[in-house]
Amino acid sequence: MTNFKQKIAEQISKAIDLDKEELETYIEIPKDVKNGDYAFPCFRLAKELKKAPQQIANEIKERIEIDSTILEKVEVLGGYLNFYINKQLLTKEVLMEMANKHEYGKSKIGEDKTILVEYSSPNIAKPFHIGHLRNTVIGAALYNIYQYLGYNTIGINHLGDYGTQFGKLIEGYKRWGNEYNLEENPIEELMKIYVRINKLCEKDKTVLEACRENFKLLEQKDSYCVELWEKFKELSLKEFQKIYDMLGIRFDAVIGESFYIDKMEKIYELLENAHVLKESEGAQIVDLEDKGLGVCMIRKSNGSSIYATRDLAAIRYRAQTYDFDKCLYVVAYEQALYFKQLFEVAQYLDIPGKCKQGLRHVQYGMVRLSTGRMSTREGNVIKVEELLTEAIRRVEDIIKEKNPEMKNLKDEAKKIGIGAVIFHNLANTIIKDQVFDWDNVLNFQGETGPYIQYTYVRTKSVLEKAGYLPKAEEINIEKLSDEYSQDIIKLIYSFEDTLIQVTDKDEPSILARYLIDLAKAFSSFYNENKIITEDKELQDARIYLTCSVGKVLKIGTNLLGIEMPDKM
Ligand code: ARG
Repeated sequence: MTNFKQKIAEQISKAIDLDKEELETYIEIPKDVKNGDYAFPCFRLAKELKKAPQQIANEIKERIEIDSTILEKVEVLGGYLNFYINKQLLTKEVLMEMANKHEYGKSKIGEDKTILVEYSSPNIAKPFHIGHLRNTVIGAALYNIYQYLGYNTIGINHLGDYGTQFGKLIEGYKRWGNEYNLEENPIEELMKIYVRINKLCEKDKTVLEACRENFKLLEQKDSYCVELWEKFKELSLKEFQKIYDMLGIRFDAVIGESFYIDKMEKIYELLENAHVLKESEGAQIVDLEDKGLGVCMIRKSNGSSIYATRDLAAIRYRAQTYDFDKCLYVVAYEQALYFKQLFEVAQYLDIPGKCKQGLRHVQYGMVRLSTGRMSTREGNVIKVEELLTEAIRRVEDIIKEKNPEMKNLKDEAKKIGIGAVIFHNLANTIIKDQVFDWDNVLNFQGETGPYIQYTYVRTKSVLEKAGYLPKAEEINIEKLSDEYSQDIIKLIYSFEDTLIQVTDKDEPSILARYLIDLAKAFSSFYNENKIITEDKELQDARIYLTCSVGKVLKIGTNLLGIEMPDKM
């Protein structure tokens, strides 16, 4: 399709002799459609050209060549130049692209780049909580979108399968293992052991010491400790897998922190050689005070590795294995300082500069239920599996009331219930905290997943009613010049650009927002325009547009990790 932004930038560049690529980045899409399809703010040039923005706008306008097949008109409004795209061209291009491209919006712009997305990363023997759920769906959406844009994408689950907590669990298991039924309810039972041993550690320091000793033994590959640890791991993974299956999540690699144990010596050595390791109360640290980042602990006083050391080893391993351009860490914003420290220390590793520069912490906000935050140590936790099951059950009830005869009720309810939860997690800027409230999540009329699915199902029933699909080449595009059709055309045109924005900002909510806008635009179109009418040309054009909306809604929601129901 014609890249209108690029064309406009070319014209402006000819008029004022500035770099067209840079000018292109200035071009905006006006909030109000009355101000055209694209706007060029001249404020940014005022300083450089030593002129008032409005004067610059007028001068550019006079010098610009208007190719009427591309641009309808150019207007000056304040310090802006507003561009109006030739509607017919835009409409035609969108329809043809729709007809010719099976996977609309798919591209190859990422072809030579490798992106790692680390997501989910729950901790063994601890509950998979709604923070992990959020993390998982954000990561999966980013993964899908990068992949759709042609990037070589690798999804990694960095399991928390290592750390001092295993010393504690082993101690608890040694003491009371036979009192708990691990096979039946592994994580819940392990949690009980964990809570109990923690309480004991608080009272009795010798127990705490014993726990630390266990962890050291585990590091030294003591067979009893390893065997227990393997057991905890296997049972936990089985539980996590149930959730991944419900969500339709998969990873290219599941690599736990323990994988890096034998890769840690090299990290100490590299930091040693870079003269950045310092002794502090028996432990080894990297001092980042001069950068305002405190200190990053690398090795404990008893010689044990810690979270950061394993992360450094992981960065080095990933750089060597995948030679990545970007490595995204989808992790809660609570770890913001930690990741700043980590990325700073990673600068001392022997990996390519592009990898060092490609490390990104994708931060997301907490999820709160009306009951407040949940903590593992106190043991009061919402189980994600139950939450998802509850979503499905609630949707079943809603459907039974709305559409009692519906076939495949269970399957459809699953797509809607799970889809609603996924969408809710992606609907707002991900760094914002979220409050989980059933009425909001499942509202078929609100800005929700079910609303988008409902709109999609509506497009399908329009097509069913019509009983045919007209050919794109035969559409009379004049019939789509009303404002409702044009709003849809513009949105469909900007789909690929929307996906690019998601990857530029690592912000999947941009796509979620887009889908809401498209669904709303379709609702207005549907309410204002009769689709099945006397005028056959008009009907054909509207049917084709309806079909296009359905396609884009489906591709977009699938990219977010949501399936579309056939009926609702
Ligand atoms: N397992 C950690 C948690 O649940 C998150 C791991 C984040 N990733 C990392 N590379 N440090 O809090």
